[in-house]
Amino acid sequence: MVFPEYRPRRMRQNETFRSMIRETRLHAEQLVYPVFIMPGKDRREAIPSMPGIDRISVDQLKKEADECLELGVRSLLLFGLPEKKDGMGSGAHASNGIVQQAIREIKKETPEITVITDVCLCEYTDHGHCGCLINDEVDNDTTLELLSRTALSHAKAGADMVAPSDMMDGRVSEIRSVLDENDFQKVPIMSYAVKYASAFYGPFREAADCAPSFGDRRSYQMDPANSREALREATLDVEEGADILMVKPAVAYLDIIRSLRDEFDLPIAAYHVSGEYAMIKAAAEKGWIDGEKIMAETLLSIRRAGADIIITYCAKDMARLLQG
Ligand code: PBG
Repeated sequence: MVFPEYRPRRMRQNETFRSMIRETRLHAEQLVYPVFIMPGKDRREAIPSMPGIDRISVDQLKKEADECLELGVRSLLLFGLPEKKDGMGSGAHASNGIVQQAIREIKKETPEITVITDVCLCEYTDHGHCGCLINDEVDNDTTLELLSRTALSHAKAGADMVAPSDMMDGRVSEIRSVLDENDFQKVPIMSYAVKYASAFYGPFREAADCAPSFGDRRSYQMDPANSREALREATLDVEEGADILMVKPAVAYLDIIRSLRDEFDLPIAAYHVSGEYAMIKAAAEKGWIDGEKIMAETLLSIRRAGADIIITYCAKDMARLLQG
């Protein structure tokens, strides 16, 4: 007597069968590698809470980009650490700002790379909030103008795609109209549509030196308890013209990735953030887990939940593993 539950096992018995029926796969081209750019020349500075990730100066980008291309990772997401910060985050939209320089460098040296830029003010404001303040509160509407100026300066420098991460209301339509008015209709917007107020961003805030100097980001980032709100946030961004919807963080929010996947037909991106990366690295360093296997399983689960694109500090490690 053959039991019905024997059936799936028949297909698991050899690798060809397993591969034949595999529902989800990882490809290096689906991975986006975040890069932190710092001022100066010939500089590479390790980020203690993110082993394997360095802050690098603009001249180091070619090496980084070549290494990515070699591994099949074709897109970078750029973050800038400006020389000086101020109350209005003016370094964010400076025509010769750190990210603008980085974009030009990549376009000159490694034009095969797709350049995506994070559009936000928190790395550029001296108070560390994602917008400008009025009476110690982030003011949504005055921030919009600075964000669209920032996105435009990135496009002018040659960015292929902009990714607003600030979570101000109305920023996607504001950025879209400013880009269109300036003849950048072809530059897509990957919106951080669903960004939770999360402790998983801890190491990033150390890397980018952008922890808020007072208060927190809960007035503009989402409450981790909410999932219906994620659909409302995403719907607004779709209506405003977003081309890709992002969910962030990833692993603790796989249900949100899945519900966006089911609800919308736009490409979905997931940001596997700094804290998620740090946890894998730390446990692997201690010898408590197999870091490579956990990384692969984690990234696969993000794809299985419905993400087309994964932004991850593991991009190079994963691509290396895929190359065997
Ligand atoms: C900027 C921004 C943050 C991250 C990406 N863009 C920090 C934040 O919102 O506090 C976090 C990325 C990571 O943790 O890897 N707003």
